[in-house]
Amino acid sequence: MAFIKNAWYVACWGCEVKSGEMFHRKLLNEMVVFYRKEDGTAVALQDRCPHRFIPLHLGKIVGDSIECAYHGLTFDCSGKCVKNPHGDGKVPAAARVRSYPVAEKHGMLWIWMGSQAADPVTIPDYSVLESEAGFATSRGYLHIEANYELMGENLLDLSHITYLHDGYLGSPEQVGADQVLKEEGGKIHCNRWMPNISVPPIFDMVYRRDGKPVDMWTNMTWIPPSCFLLDSGVHEVGGKREDHGWYYGVHILTPESEKTVHYHFAAAMPPGTRMTPDEAAKFSALRRHAFEAQDKPIINAQQAAIGDNDFWEMKPVLLSVDAGPVRMRRAIERMTKEDVAIETPAVPIKVIRPAPASV
Ligand code: FES
Ligand SMILES: [Fe+2]
Repeated sequence: MAFIKNAWYVACWGCEVKSGEMFHRKLLNEMVVFYRKEDGTAVALQDRCPHRFIPLHLGKIVGDSIECAYHGLTFDCSGKCVKNPHGDGKVPAAARVRSYPVAEKHGMLWIWMGSQAADPVTIPDYSVLESEAGFATSRGYLHIEANYELMGENLLDLSHITYLHDGYLGSPEQVGADQVLKEEGGKIHCNRWMPNISVPPIFDMVYRRDGKPVDMWTNMTWIPPSCFLLDSGVHEVGGKREDHGWYYGVHILTPESEKTVHYHFAAAMPPGTRMTPDEAAKFSALRRHAFEAQDKPIINAQQAAIGDNDFWEMKPVLLSVDAGPVRMRRAIERMTKEDVAIETPAVPIKVIRPAPASV
């Protein structure tokens, strides 16, 4: 299975790459090592020495470069070998590793693994996580043993919260919610509106703590290829958003392999939310519990059940709630095809024409 390479992906939270230390992770089936230059700028290099294929993260940082642990070849931040301590010291032309464009934005380290030019302007907007936005934020990470599309479907179709997250995010009347699907600028919005329902416990904590019915919404946006932003909340029946019972949920997926994915998530509560620090901590812990103890085992089990089979060849039964996920899947298929064409341009066939007959 191919991945969409010409896109920005979150490699890790920015704070995970500490000055003077290396951080390594497999992304889109490639091993990558991250470190910081002396001026603090993050660097991403292929994590495999071209000499005897030792992971570079086993070596050490020397200035702005990495020295391989095995025989001491040294690579600068562009991936070029700048020192061969052996023989005449000549550096073979092939002694280089790939350097990937990276950008730090919204507290995350983004990486571009395709061959086309990378423009940080196209990084999705998660500015609610910036301290200037004034939101109270919490963040987390999970490793999921499933393909990123399965996890993406879980996020885009939130009809599962009544069942899988019963007692946390779910309440029975959410079933049959009004669902509106919109596509614009390549994004898919999957909006659900649930008027006059019993308040899900986690939202009762964010809002009034009186257990009274509420109007609730979950508006999820997919930003290709694998970023999501949720706008979700409650207010009193017939009330208004300004009552501060809402938050933004950030959900970002980065494929590790065909059957594993890095899942970065965060929540951003707007200024004016009436929660004590203890309640805010409990809110984050409950969210994490829902993702880790409820979503993750289901999605892992789903991947195990699918195995190596093709999703469509298994003929999945489709329900009304699948409209968003199916559109997302189709868009990913289209984008993957286009991306593969960019990454592996067809070799033009040289046409040999017979010489014109001489007169
Ligand atoms: S394996 Fe890296 S220098 Fe030999
Ligand atoms: Fe879920």
